[in-house]
This record gives sequence, C-alpha cells and structure tokens, in this order.
Amino acid sequence: MNRRVTRLGGLLAAYQRRDPAARSKLEIFLLYPGVHAILWHRLAHWLYRHDLRFLARCVSQWSRFWTGIEIHPGAVIGHRLVIDHGMGVVIGETTEIGDDCLLYQGVTLGGTGKDKGKRHPTLGDNVLVGCGAKILGPFRVGDNARIAGGAVVLREVPPNCTAVGVPAQIVRRAGEPVFYADDVDHTSVQNPTLERIAALAARVADLEKKLDMHTAPMHTVDEYDDYVI
Ligand SMILES: CC(C)(COP(=O)(O)OP(=O)(O)OC[C@H]1O[C@@H](n2cnc3c(N)ncnc32)[C@H](O)[C@@H]1OP(=O)(O)O)[C@@H](O)C(=O)NCCC(=O)NCCS
Repeated sequence: MNRRVTRLGGLLAAYQRRDPAARSKLEIFLLYPGVHAILWHRLAHWLYRHDLRFLARCVSQWSRFWTGIEIHPGAVIGHRLVIDHGMGVVIGETTEIGDDCLLYQGVTLGGTGKDKGKRHPTLGDNVLVGCGAKILGPFRVGDNARIAGGAVVLREVPPNCTAVGVPAQIVRRAGEPVFYADDVDHTSVQNPTLERIAALAARVADLEKKLDMHTAPMHTVDEYDDYVI
C-alpha cells in the first residue's frame, strides 16, 4: 500500500514539474484526466495479466469514456508518465513506455497494420511526444528523445535526438543541429558516370566473349578490303 501511495505521489509531483498551470497535488488528483487514465490502466493491466481480458477491456473503455485517453490494457507503462490534456491519446497493446515520459493530446503510439506480435513502439525514459504526433511501428524511440508536435515517426529515433515533420527526420542530436550535407563524406564520393561506363564496358566484353564462343572469330575491317572490286 505504501509503495502505491509513494508512486501516486511521484506521479502527481511529475505533473507539477511538467505543467506550469498545475497548482496543487489535490487539484491534479481530482481534475487531471491523465492521472485518472493511468490509475484505471493499472487496474486494467492487472486484469489483463491475470487473463481477464474482457474485464480488462471494459475498464479501459470506461476510462476512455471519462478521460478521452485510450490505453490498451496490454500496454506496459513506466513510472511518472504525464499525459497533458490527454484528449485523443491512443496507446496500443504492445506499446512499452519508460519512466518520466510526457505525452500531449492527440498522440498515437500505434501500429502500421503490417506487423504481427510486437506492433507498437517502445519509448525509452524521459521521452517527449508533442501534440498530434504519431509514432507507428515496433521500433524504439531512445531515451531523452523529443518528437515534435504533428510529426509522423516511422523509423527508430536514437537517444537525445529531436525528430520533426512527416515523415519525421532527425533535426537535432544532443541539442546540436543536424545538417545532412555535413554528413556526406566528400573525399570518398564515387563518380556515378564513370561507374556506369565501367559497368557498360564490362557488359560489352562479356557479350563479346559469349558471341565468340558461338561464332567464328569476327573479321576485322581490313580483311574485307580484299573483296573490294
Ligand atoms: C520539437 C520540440 C520538442 C522542440 O525540441 P528541440 O530539440 O528544442 O528543437 P528546436 O526547438 O530547437 O527545433 C528544432 C527545429 O525543428 C523545428 N520544429 C520544432 N517544432 C516543430 C514542429 N512541431 N514541426 C515542424 N518543425 C518543428 C524548429 O523550427 C527548428 O527548426 P530549425 O532547425 O530550422 O531552426 C517542440 O518544438 C515541440 O514540438 N514540442 C511539443 C509541444 C506541444 O506539443 N505542446 C502542446 C501544448 S498543449
């Protein structure tokens, strides 16, 4: 019991830290849908783990009705997850979320429909996901990553990176801008025209060899001079 109260205390403190508008822990406990969704999820997840899948779904749908946040009972959620505002958040069955993460409204942690088994993303610790962002697929979003509002993330995001846009690109690594032109190794760049010519020359030589095997050796132009009248 004590452990549960301490966990709840930690969750409420996380809201105070993350949300400048949050005043007291009592207000957060009574009025914040993100807190209610997490508490309902703990019950739903317990039922899910004890193979009471239908009851688990009932609890999660009940929670969705009151909070606007849909968390599948199978999702594994770490400590102190803050879901700010909450409305429209969807968290899929095989999602895993680390400690101290922050999700804004409209976030989807979903699947693409192409995968079986593990279909949803894994978020590391201290990950921020901006409003309306979609993270789709069974890949990892590293610790301390930031996903911009409105981004659609379809590939792994390394730790300490910021991803923005549709589809999302990494624009910051450990706070430093990422310029793709700077990442190119200019000294080892191949000349594509020369590569193509070399490939064609190799093909012509190969064809000539094959032709020689089936026909008599080809005459040179000079040899035909004898026939000129
Ligand atoms: C991405 C975010 C977390 C900031 O992360 P950051 O690592 O500090 O990144 P920066 O602010 O330095 O921005 C990096 C670049 O991404 C761009 N960017 C930031 N947010 C963006 C977004 N949502 N969509 C597109 N581009 C965005 C910036 O303009 C900047 O571009 P530049 O490199 O050309 O200057 C923040 O912009 C964000 O989206 N937070 C979510 C907030 C939210 O959802 N609030 C809801 C409150 S209700």
